[in-house]
Formats: sequence, structure tokens, C-alpha cells
Amino acid sequence: MYTIGGQLSSIIKMPVGLRTSLAIILFVSMGAGCASTHKTIKEAAPQEFIFPKDFLWGAATSSHQVEGNNTNNDWWEWEQTRLPEARSGLACDQWDRFENDFKLAQSLGHTAHRFSIEWSRIEPQEGQWDSSAVDHYAQVIRSLRSKGIEPIVTLHHFTLPLWLARQGGWYSQKAPELFARYVEKVTKVLGGDVHYWMTLNEPVVYTYKGYMVGDWPPGIKSPKEAIQVFKNLLLGHVLAYERIKEAYIKKGWEEPRVGIAQSVLIFRACSDTSLRDRIAARFRHWMFNHLFVQALIRGRAYCIGLFNVHLPKAKTLDFIGLNYYTRDFVLHHGYGFPGILGQACTATVEQNRHTGKDNFLSWEIYPKGLHTFLIDFSRYKLPLLVSENGLATNDDAERVSFIVEHLKAVGQGMEEGAFVIGYLYWSLLDNYEWAEGFVPRFGLIEVDHATQERKVRESARMFGEIIRSGKLRIEQRGRESAALRGNYFEN
Ligand code: FCB
Repeated sequence: MYTIGGQLSSIIKMPVGLRTSLAIILFVSMGAGCASTHKTIKEAAPQEFIFPKDFLWGAATSSHQVEGNNTNNDWWEWEQTRLPEARSGLACDQWDRFENDFKLAQSLGHTAHRFSIEWSRIEPQEGQWDSSAVDHYAQVIRSLRSKGIEPIVTLHHFTLPLWLARQGGWYSQKAPELFARYVEKVTKVLGGDVHYWMTLNEPVVYTYKGYMVGDWPPGIKSPKEAIQVFKNLLLGHVLAYERIKEAYIKKGWEEPRVGIAQSVLIFRACSDTSLRDRIAARFRHWMFNHLFVQALIRGRAYCIGLFNVHLPKAKTLDFIGLNYYTRDFVLHHGYGFPGILGQACTATVEQNRHTGKDNFLSWEIYPKGLHTFLIDFSRYKLPLLVSENGLATNDDAERVSFIVEHLKAVGQGMEEGAFVIGYLYWSLLDNYEWAEGFVPRFGLIEVDHATQERKVRESARMFGEIIRSGKLRIEQRGRESAALRGNYFEN
């Protein structure tokens, strides 16, 4: 299984004597998901929700998953030895086919497109810059703009140049500054045409998969190293944020919005009657969903016995990207670290606590969770962007209802006061899905990876119709249901 929850069984035990203190700080320092018992839900009544005119509608991709032949990064190297059945190869050949792909996106009504820049192409060797790669991305951005599509640019989406990976990647103390230097190079050239930057994609997932459970590069299983990587990613973001802002001020460009893409998963206790399961779910919720964002807003992060991080600057987020897919169930697994994060409780899932259908990757389809997070993250008083939400399926009709149900959740959240600036479906194309290879089909557009032929799916057309009409029928519960804010464990 591929979800974070699915990986939990492989966590190694490393208790550090945190038991009671951790349990106490859960309720004191997390500040996340504190349950309110007050509920007032009005009778549901359907109404038409009208999305704002400037709402960002579109899809998301990432360089390694669509460009093809990204031979100079750590993922490519990993695939050659570890994933004989799941190599990215030519991926969707988007390096050469972006123009055609963006024409399709335009024809489907998209007004925004999220893609990532491949660091290993920009800086193929340490300190050596490939201006033709920067020019390529300048063309990508121009192509989008010429079609009325707003580019939303991610600067790090899981892959690292090989030269940096060889020096320890994000574990190296040099990584934050090296990242900031790359970001500065890129923004100085591309900045004039970009209003939305996302420095990091899912930093917590990246840390967890690469340094805790070790099933993504660099394949390390060390909670101690994971904490260091986590700190370096925080610092890397802050430095990059500052460089971007400085570059824009120097050039006199209109101030851009800088954010990250935060993965959010609903974590529900395996058994609601088990306090221990509820503590594990709550800790996991705090660490995986909120900690990184909170740290950037407050300029510090603290967890007794684990870390005490002070960043050079607070408030380095102008918006928050939320990547939402599913819900996981969590079972108590000790009070040390990482045991406190719990583990997946497949037994409970087998007892049918999943209310939704599962997707191709066994992720539960759970639209309500998106509404929960839009309300939950409203606490930060920043614009929210649904930067990823999508379904891997071979049944396109499922994708249609997936999109409609999740957009209803968005409309409902906005109706209740969440400030949402856009919705980006994952993904525009059937992409290379990391360790799962090309088997899961997420695309609005079908890709035959042997011929690179594209076929627009019905779900893409239906999504296009919603975009064009700009409205959707939703259940109205009224503003009172905002009282549900934080009632996260009822999910
Ligand atoms: C997200 C990743 C993205 C893609 C989707 C399915 O966690 O950001 O690259 O793999 O999951």
C-alpha cells in the first residue's frame, strides 16, 4: 500500500522515554484539531454555489512524473536499481509535448496549471547552470500565459540533483542554502511572469518516505536523520521565500504569493473507544498535517525531547496549498518516537470502517475530509489552494463523481467562510506515479505510454463544464456548521 498509513507497519521502534510528557504535550502544544462538542447542523437544503470569477481552475503535475528522461536526479537512479517494473523512462514526454498538452488544458477550460521545475536540469552539476533549461521553463510559462492559464510553479517536487543526493541531500547542512541559491537563479529569470510559487511539495511525506520508512530515495530508516531533514526543509523554505521576495523587489515586479503544498490526510482512531488510538491519531494529525505549516507561520517548532527549531523569520507563507486524497485509520503503537505516530489498522478497515469506496491504490474515497481541512486550515487566516486532489481509477465514471463530490466539499467550505482560491485536479495526464509506475491512472487525459497518444476523458469534459458554468449545486448547512471547526475526530 502506498499511503502514509500503509507504511506505518514498517516504522522501527526507537523509544526515547517520552511517554507521559508526550501525551501531555499532545493536548497542550499541538493546538490542532481540538474537538469542540458544540454542534448545530441545520437541515440540508440544496442550493447553487457560485465560484468566484477569478477562481483558479486546473490540474497539477510534477517534472519527474511527466517530463521524461530526467536521468540526472536521485529518483532516476533509484528506479534503475530498486524499481525494475516501475521506471519513469520517457514518462509523458512532456518536455517536448507541453505545447500540445496545454492546448488540451485550455480547450478544457483550465485557467491555472501547476507544474514543477526540475532542479537537476537547471543545475546539472554543483554551481553549473544550464541556461537552455531555464529557457525551456520560460517557454513553458509563456505557453501557459498565452492560453490564459496561470502558471503555479513548484520548485521542489521530491527529486534532487544527483550531485546533491551524493552529499546527503536534505540531510546535509548545506542543503537549505543550496536550495535557496537555485531558487534565486530561477526566480531572477522567470519571476516576471510568475505570481504563484510553491517552494516545496509535501515536505513531511518526503521526509517520512525517504528517511523514516525508507521506501523512497535515499532509502534511510532513521528518525534522527528524519528530524534533521525536517529542520533543513523548514529552513530551506524560509531562505527561498526571502530570496524570491528580494528578487521581485529588486526588479520592481508585482509581489508574488509564495506557499508550499502540504499533504493532508484525515487520521481517524482505529477504535473510537480507545484513548490510546485517539492519542496516536491526534499526534499523527499534528505532525503530518499541521506541524510544518505552523512552524513556518510561528517561526518556531517545538516538541519535547525531539526538536526545538527557531527559524530566522516567521510568517513565510502567503497561501497554503493542500494536497488532499484520503483518510487513514490509526492504531496505538507506543508512546516513544516514532511509535507515538501509531500504525495503520488494516484489521479495522477490514471490519468495514471505510465508508467510501477505495481507489485503485486502496485509498478510501472520502470527500468530506476535504471540507474538514478547508475549515480546519482556515485557522491560519491565509488563502487556501487545493493544490492536488485526484483519483486513480480505470473507471472514468468514478472520476466524474469523485470530482463533483470534492468540488461540493470545496463549495461548502467556501460557503462557510473558507477562503479558497482554486482547485487543481491531480493530474492532467496519466503520469508516472513514483514506486507504483504507470499502473495507477490519475489523468483527466489518458496517455498511451507506448505511443504517447493523448485521449481526453469524459471526466475532463465534465470538469470543463463545471469550470465554464462556475457553479455547482451543494448541500447548504449554513454558517452555523462552522461550529464544527476542529471537530476533526468526528470524521
Ligand atoms: C501526491 C504527490 C504527487 C502524486 C500524488 C498522487 O502525494 O505530491 O506527486 O504522486 O500524490
